[in-house]
Amino acid sequence: MRHAQAPTRPAAPGAGIFYRPTDPPDAAPAPGASACRDLLGLEGMSRSEILEILDAAAAYRDRIRAHALPTNELRGVTVCNAFFENSTRTRVSFEIAEQGLGAIHTSFQAGSSSVAKGETLLDTLRVIASMRVDLLVVRHASPGAAAYLARHLEAGVINAGDGAHEHPTQGLLDLMTLRQAWRDGFAGRRVAIVGDIAHSRVARSAAFGLHALGVEVTFAGPATLMPAGIESLGGAVAATVEEAMRGADAVITLRIQRERMEAGLLPSLVEYAHEWGITARRVELMKAGAVVLHPGPMNRGVEITPEVADGPRSVILDQVENGVAIRCAVLKRCAGDLAKAAT
Ligand code: CP
Repeated sequence: MRHAQAPTRPAAPGAGIFYRPTDPPDAAPAPGASACRDLLGLEGMSRSEILEILDAAAAYRDRIRAHALPTNELRGVTVCNAFFENSTRTRVSFEIAEQGLGAIHTSFQAGSSSVAKGETLLDTLRVIASMRVDLLVVRHASPGAAAYLARHLEAGVINAGDGAHEHPTQGLLDLMTLRQAWRDGFAGRRVAIVGDIAHSRVARSAAFGLHALGVEVTFAGPATLMPAGIESLGGAVAATVEEAMRGADAVITLRIQRERMEAGLLPSLVEYAHEWGITARRVELMKAGAVVLHPGPMNRGVEITPEVADGPRSVILDQVENGVAIRCAVLKRCAGDLAKAAT
């Protein structure tokens, strides 16, 4: 195993983002604005901030399981889910969380909106924000789009996935699922992240979160899907999936995007499955009790076999369940004093 160093291929889309979240804002925050009104990514988030969200989410999970929602916690807060890319898990779980916390909420699908008539992203979101929307949950194909909107709008912005940059609520739900599986904590743990690292916002958010919690990460995937500058994500790079998974406490399996094959980055899905797929034999290389994660949607038989996806080590549906609890915790955090003012 080598430690991440030399770039193996040109920068992936996530490496060059439209707007860098770390750039200073043009204007001072709006008067009374909360410092954590936005959630743009896990990069730079501290261990204590992450644990605070995970603790809050664990309490929400208990309440959801006990059918103790809805609450009035977000009464008077208006949330719009603005999705410029397809989604099942993220959009539905945000909607359930918003409704569960008593927010006024609506969803917006780019395909059926005036974006199709040529309106810009910013103009469209300005229109929505003018309806006194307090929080925007945004998914967009362009890395940095959420941060760009946060820079220009007074409403809080929650990044629901921006191209190959970050997917922070996915990263948080992955951490929550690992915490649940590893009852004795994060110390001394190692996670293998396998697949298309270059185009994966899931890999980036997971890596930042795991790093903040002191968990070791090993990346593995074809050289054509390994981003330049992977060293900025921390961790090591393994030459094979077996090397990455041997002795690991978990594997995060990434979705293979079929268009990568058409772009010549993969010879065929059959060869990908053979070289890098998560199979029962490879799962046996991990520690006893190690778990298998996948953010979904899955390509069964490509990056993961059905036997593993549905097997005893799989925590894929736990991830989905935890997604609602994490989104409750994030919405509450970003609404902050807005919700208090409304009660
Ligand atoms: N994991 C994830 O973001 O899934 P969706 O695209 O279905 O929201």
